[in-house]
Amino acid sequence: MKIVLISGSPRKTGNTMYAMEACKKAIEEEGIEAEIISLAGKEIKSCIACYKCKEIPRCVLPDEANEIMDLLRQSEGLITGAPVYFGTARGDLMNLVQRIGMVSRGNDKFLSWMVGGPIAVGRRGGLSNTYQEMLMFYFINEMIVPGSDYWNIVFAGKEEGIAGEDVEGIENVEKFARNTAKLIKKINA
Ligand SMILES: Cc1cc2nc3c(=O)[nH]c(=O)nc-3n(C[C@H](O)[C@H](O)[C@H](O)COP(=O)(O)O)c2cc1C
Repeated sequence: MKIVLISGSPRKTGNTMYAMEACKKAIEEEGIEAEIISLAGKEIKSCIACYKCKEIPRCVLPDEANEIMDLLRQSEGLITGAPVYFGTARGDLMNLVQRIGMVSRGNDKFLSWMVGGPIAVGRRGGLSNTYQEMLMFYFINEMIVPGSDYWNIVFAGKEEGIAGEDVEGIENVEKFARNTAKLIKKINA
């Protein structure tokens, strides 16, 4: 059993990655495999509405999205970490989940019953919006989102590595990650 975590930041070692690594550790402590994919250095294009994915079970755009979808087809969970940009999730991450959603919905519905959820990482404002924005992807694809003690938002600074100072935020997303792993174990028992 495996959970894929996507860090949607262009910064390899930024605050989103800090939150993803904390979640990965929590998942592994539950005995489930976890793999982080960073969008740093990747250019994920937006869906071009060609609907070709209804004919072939892949996206026609030549970037890393298909590789990520192949990995998701072999996984039980998906956690998406979004840096907050102007009160919403960073574009490349939304590009990716929208294309993943189109391929899944048009074909084998590989997202259906996957467990996971979004985490929003920002400096000051728009974190709840970003969390809610990302939830739209989860619920329209029949995915299952566990809760935690609070919503999945982590406060960070402009600098990298500040997310660790939001102790409550990190503890909350660690619990969410553990709950994701526990639910996957129950579903697959
Ligand atoms: C283009 C841009 C827009 C941003 N907009 C917001 C915002 O609306 N709200 C906020 O709280 N932080 C905003 N930030 C700050 C980032 O969310 C914050 O630095 C976060 O730690 C970035 O995650 P990272 O370290 O993983 O890259 C913005 C940063 C950038 C580069």
